[in-house]
Amino acid sequence: MIVVFGSINADLFVTVPELPKPGETVLSPGYVMRPGGKGANQAVAAARAGGDVRFVGQVGKDPFGQTVLKAIKNAGVDTTPCRQVDDVTGTAMVMVDRAGENQIVVASGANQSLHPDLVPAPLLTNYTVLVLQMEVPVEANEALIRMAKSHGARVVLNLAPAYPISEQALDGVDVLVLNEEEAAALVGETLEPARHCRMLARKHGTIVVITLGGKGAVMFGEGGVWKVGTLEIDPVDTVGAGDAFVGAFATALDKKQKPRDALHRASVAAGLACLAEGAQTGLPTEKEISSVLPRLAAPTLVS
Ligand code: RIB
Repeated sequence: MIVVFGSINADLFVTVPELPKPGETVLSPGYVMRPGGKGANQAVAAARAGGDVRFVGQVGKDPFGQTVLKAIKNAGVDTTPCRQVDDVTGTAMVMVDRAGENQIVVASGANQSLHPDLVPAPLLTNYTVLVLQMEVPVEANEALIRMAKSHGARVVLNLAPAYPISEQALDGVDVLVLNEEEAAALVGETLEPARHCRMLARKHGTIVVITLGGKGAVMFGEGGVWKVGTLEIDPVDTVGAGDAFVGAFATALDKKQKPRDALHRASVAAGLACLAEGAQTGLPTEKEISSVLPRLAAPTLVS
C-alpha cells in the first residue's frame, strides 16, 4: 500500500509570452483552474501507475476544496483520511511561457496546518510505502519519518521544494528524490549529479535519485550509480513531471520491483506526463507505462 501525505492545490494556470521580471506586469488572456499540489499529483500518479493509494491532506472550506479532492478520488485515490479545515485551499499560481518554462508560487492555505496525527496508525506497516514532499510543515514530515521507521514502513521523500530538514530525518529515508537545484541546496554546492547522488547516499544510507529534466535521471542504489534517459517527445507541459516520476517510482517499489526498474518506469511516466496540459491530466496508467517502456533504454550502471 502507498500512503501519500502532502499538499493538495488548485493550480491557476496562466500562459504568458515571457515570465515577468521583478517589478514587471505581464498580461495573459485568462486562466484555467486545474487540480494540483505535489502530494495530490504524486498520489494520482501512483494510483494511475497501478498502486493502491491513500492520500492524507487538507483542503479549505472554499469551492476549490471539493473540486480538487473529487479529482483525486476520481483517479482512484482513497481520500478517507482527508480533512476540510477553516482556511483557504492551497492555491498555486502557475505561469507558463512560450518556451514551456514555468514559474510557480504556492499559497499554502490548508496545507500549512497539515498534522501527522491525520495519518491513521494502522496505515503505517511494513507493507507501506510512505511518500512525502516539502509543501507541508517540515516538522510533520520529520515526525512521520520517525513513526514510519518504528512501524517498518519504507519512506520516499521528494525534497521539493528544497526546504531544510533534519539530518536525522534524512537518515530515516529509504529513497530520496530531488532535482539538481534541490540537491545543490541540500549539499550547499553544485556538483556533478552522479557525485551528488553518491555523497548523499553514503551520508544518509539511502537510495538517492536526482532528476535531470529532459536529460533523464541518475540514481545511487543497488551498489552503484545508474543512469536513465528520457523518452523522445515534444513536451506540451512539464508541470508535474517530477510528481509523475515520484508516483510511478513509489508504485514500482511497492510492487517489489528493483530500484533500477522503478527508475526506468518512473522516467517513462514523467515523459508521458508531459504530453498533456496540467499536472494531473496526462498521468499515465500502468498499461501505458508498460507499453511505452521498450522505447526507452533500461538504466545502465555508470560507476
Ligand atoms: O509539482 C507541480 C505542483 O507544484 C503543481 O501542481 C503546483 O500545485 C505546485 O505545488
